[in-house]
Amino acid sequence: KKRAPMPDDIRAAKGGTPLVSLTAYTTPMAQMMDAHCDFVLVGDSVGMVLHGLPSTLGVTMEMMILHGQAVARGLSSAMMVIDMPFGSYEESREQAFRNAARLMAETGAGAVKLEGGAHMAETIAFLVARGIPVMAHIGLTPQSINTLGGYKVQGRGDARDAALADADAVAQAGAFAVVLEKVPQSLADEITARIPIPTIGIGASAGCDGQILVVDDMLGLFTAFKAKFVKRYAHLGDDGAAAIAAYAADVRARTFPAAEHVFADEAPST
Ligand code: KIV
Ligand code: NA
Repeated sequence: KKRAPMPDDIRAAKGGTPLVSLTAYTTPMAQMMDAHCDFVLVGDSVGMVLHGLPSTLGVTMEMMILHGQAVARGLSSAMMVIDMPFGSYEESREQAFRNAARLMAETGAGAVKLEGGAHMAETIAFLVARGIPVMAHIGLTPQSINTLGGYKVQGRGDARDAALADADAVAQAGAFAVVLEKVPQSLADEITARIPIPTIGIGASAGCDGQILVVDDMLGLFTAFKAKFVKRYAHLGDDGAAAIAAYAADVRARTFPAAEHVFADEAPST
């Protein structure tokens, strides 16, 4: 059985076979993807996907720790990365260290992810120098939707230079990889060519060094909306709704439980 990759192994995958990753929030989902993914992200998307929150802004450290612990129990060959939730790292590099250390200590995650480019570079360097591998996340950063003005494509036109500067800054600061979310394909390709760390695309480019999707999106379990960058590989939400309707009909018709689901007075003698 292969050992789980370390952040340095992820970094070394730059330019090679694309890195495969998905989000996970629970043990069974983590088990389902463990053998197929290089790393698994306990994303703060958990707030929207599993808790019905309107954005990721309401996600707490406690939620991340509880889901991180569940995911850790389901992984043995994929590396686990955990998101730092909104408000847990932006105030100071010391606050970021304290909360990142807590996330790693209480969940066993091998790295944290935080949102932000040039303005987070000092914090990234501070964490990396103190033993915390950091995955950066630039482009569309959902914790900043209120200042970005919504879930728009980032880095177009005049914003392209700032996006390139963000990529340079997080790589220079020591991040071992960077998520590029919802940026033009040509920008993703340019960043991938110019920085020495792997780019992990979501709504970016097949030319990135890896890809990530929210697992509930790609399984068709989360259907409140579908971003253009999501490809649905299954329709488990529709399958689940049909299964529940069939169960409801069986119960009302007294065809469930059937003979094989009920117990006799005496145990069978064999
Ligand atoms: O929280 C999340 O799911 C993420 C990925 C989409 C990169 O940050
Ligand atoms: Na996230």
